[in-house]
Amino acid sequence: MKKRVLSGMRPTGKLHLGNFLGALDNWKKIQEEDAFFMIADWHALTTEYESHSEIRNNVIEVVLDYLAGGLDPEKCTIFVQSQVKEHAELALLLSMMTPLSWLERNPTYKDQIQELKGKDLHTHGFLGYPVLQAADILLYKADFVPVGEDQLPHLELTREIARRFNHLYGEVFPEPQAMLTQVKKLPGTDGRKMSKSYNNCIYMSDSPEEVEKKIKGMVTDPQRKRRDDPGDPEVCPVFYYQKIFNSDLIPSIEQGCRSAELGCVDDKKSLMKELNKFLEPVYEKRKELEKDKGKIADILEEGAKRARVIASATLQEAKEKVGI
Ligand code: TRP
Repeated sequence: MKKRVLSGMRPTGKLHLGNFLGALDNWKKIQEEDAFFMIADWHALTTEYESHSEIRNNVIEVVLDYLAGGLDPEKCTIFVQSQVKEHAELALLLSMMTPLSWLERNPTYKDQIQELKGKDLHTHGFLGYPVLQAADILLYKADFVPVGEDQLPHLELTREIARRFNHLYGEVFPEPQAMLTQVKKLPGTDGRKMSKSYNNCIYMSDSPEEVEKKIKGMVTDPQRKRRDDPGDPEVCPVFYYQKIFNSDLIPSIEQGCRSAELGCVDDKKSLMKELNKFLEPVYEKRKELEKDKGKIADILEEGAKRARVIASATLQEAKEKVGI
């Protein structure tokens, strides 16, 4: 029996290499299960309600990245959250029985309000973010939800909401399990966390030339000022990348850096080569896909259609139990 799997991303921009390795690459491996991958545009609106004009375009960018990164719409279901109205309806239903205190103590709520200081997140929608996410997951009675560690509080809340619903109205929702994706945390080109707001990302849509330029500009061991200074690979972001893309050469890179036999320029060149071997097919495929926006719309329409069949049956079941 195939397992039902569901996950999603918020369409806040093009996906970067960190998103690719941290999530999409794992999704690709489990798409042979009964898998649903969503683009959570309602969730994007919870924080971007003022810069909303980019959401629709970002949805397309994310779908292009999903497909270029290897998701196959013949194997898995790819859909946009707002195109399946049942998400909004189940979220409303679940909001009736979700205690406010559960949402107020949600650690991601507090963190995000701190982190996104420029945005006013004291809204009903943002507080209810995990209720909407619970609806996403429970509508499909997902067995597994592949997510990064940061999403664990939302998964736990989903399970609590499922238990509370089942207790109050009768058994409808199975409790989903998190499927922790092994996140290979990748620093940005400046050594900080890879993030759009730091302008330090390598994107899945970057051309080989752009990738080369970004690697050339990468920060290395700041103490290694001259070519013949020995370096410390442990503090070098390039070495971090090498561990992923040139793993076979790690002992010799490490030795070469510490002894100053290997210079940063050559180190970067060997990384460029391997990284482009990995990213160039993605770039080429994405360029192909970009030419046919009609096909993208068809894939999303077909995905929403498949999702609706399951979502509407579950919603019906839940409403019947509640008695509305
Ligand atoms: N909150 C998730 C994130 O920011 C995105 C998301 C929305 C999601 N709905 C989901 C993830 C359902 C898994 C399942 O990454």
